[in-house]
This record gives sequence, C-alpha cells and structure tokens, in this order.
Amino acid sequence: MNVTDFQFVKRTYFPTTIFQIDVPDSKALNDKLLENIYAEQERDLKGINRSNFSELGGWHSHNELHKSPNYSDLVSLINAATAKMGDDQGYAKSHAMRIGTMWSIINPPGSANRSHVHPGCMWSGVYYIHAPEGAGNIEFVEPRTAHLMNQPRYEPKTKRAKENWTKVRFVPIPGRMFLFPSWLYHGVDPNVSKEQGRKAHRVIVSFNLNQVKISKDG
Ligand SMILES: [Fe+2]
Repeated sequence: MNVTDFQFVKRTYFPTTIFQIDVPDSKALNDKLLENIYAEQERDLKGINRSNFSELGGWHSHNELHKSPNYSDLVSLINAATAKMGDDQGYAKSHAMRIGTMWSIINPPGSANRSHVHPGCMWSGVYYIHAPEGAGNIEFVEPRTAHLMNQPRYEPKTKRAKENWTKVRFVPIPGRMFLFPSWLYHGVDPNVSKEQGRKAHRVIVSFNLNQVKISKDG
C-alpha cells in the first residue's frame, strides 16, 4: 500500500451566513421611506449617537421607527424576509423573528460608521434606500479573530476561496436588504460621493431581531 494513496475529505463547519433579499421595483417604497426619514430628521435634528459620527454629519434616528405606521410596508417586507430565513434555518414554527428596534442612518459625504456589533439580539439587518456611487460600502469582518493572528501565505494573483476570506464588502444598492448575525462585526466606509445635496446621501434603515413566541390568538 502506498501511503500517499489516501482518501482526502474536506469538512467545513461553523460558517457565517449573510442573507440577501432584493426587492424588485423598490422605487415607490424607497421614495416613501426617504420622505418619512427626512421628515423624521427635521423633527429630531440631533438624532442619537451610535456607530455614526455626528461630528461628521452622520445622522442616526431614534430606535423605534417600526412602531410608526409610516414604516409598515418595510416592516411587512422584513417580516416576510425573516420568515423565509427562519424556514431556511429550520427555526421553530412556534416562534417568529420580530423587530425589537429599528432606526435610520443618513450619511452625507465625509461620514462613516465605526465597526460594531448589535448586542442583545439574534439577527440584524440593513435595507438600502438611497446610495449614489461612492456612498460607502459595508464591511463585515471574520468573526473568528484567532484566524487573523497568523495568516497563511496564499498563491498570489489567485482568488482566495470564500472560506478563507477575512472580510467581505458590499456596495449599497437601493432595494437590497442584508440579514446578518448580530455578533458579526461590521462598519461602513466613508461616503465619498461627488453628488450634490441629498443626492449624495447614503440612507438606510437598520433593525434588530429576536425570536419571540407567537401567541395562540395570533
Ligand atoms: Fe450595525
């Protein structure tokens, strides 16, 4: 028997999943959301401070947008998307993913969001409403930080297999939603759009989800 005549099996465990949802014809939804978000900003110019840099113009609304009827279409969309995700993941039918907090962020040119996680919840999401070219990509970072300590040397000029990536970035596309584990570190690059006024803004709604028991009365 030749010792190099072995069976070679690759098993991959503990992957990190990000779900992507694309809404066709999202313009009407996005226009309505934009109107409501700018009205909210008028009412609350200071907003709150979280991952945004308010000194650089990044505005973060309060965290209860989901309670306003102005956002009911988006809430319906999120509920439908998370129901699909729950099916995919085999989550108990006795429970449903529900929004605990939901907020908007407006990043004008020069603003960004520092890297962070969303404590106290299971899944989080972002829905892109308006984003010109250069508005700032979201970056998710390898959660198994021990893997960053001593990186292998990879073959140059060869695309690395996804399982070996240490970060992944996505361009914000209006009408697109991402659902990601709340413990996954992410930040947003500075907005370097060359557009003028509101056209230059990066506008999103983000939300946190937890699994809650569905009551028998619905
Ligand atoms: Fe976030």
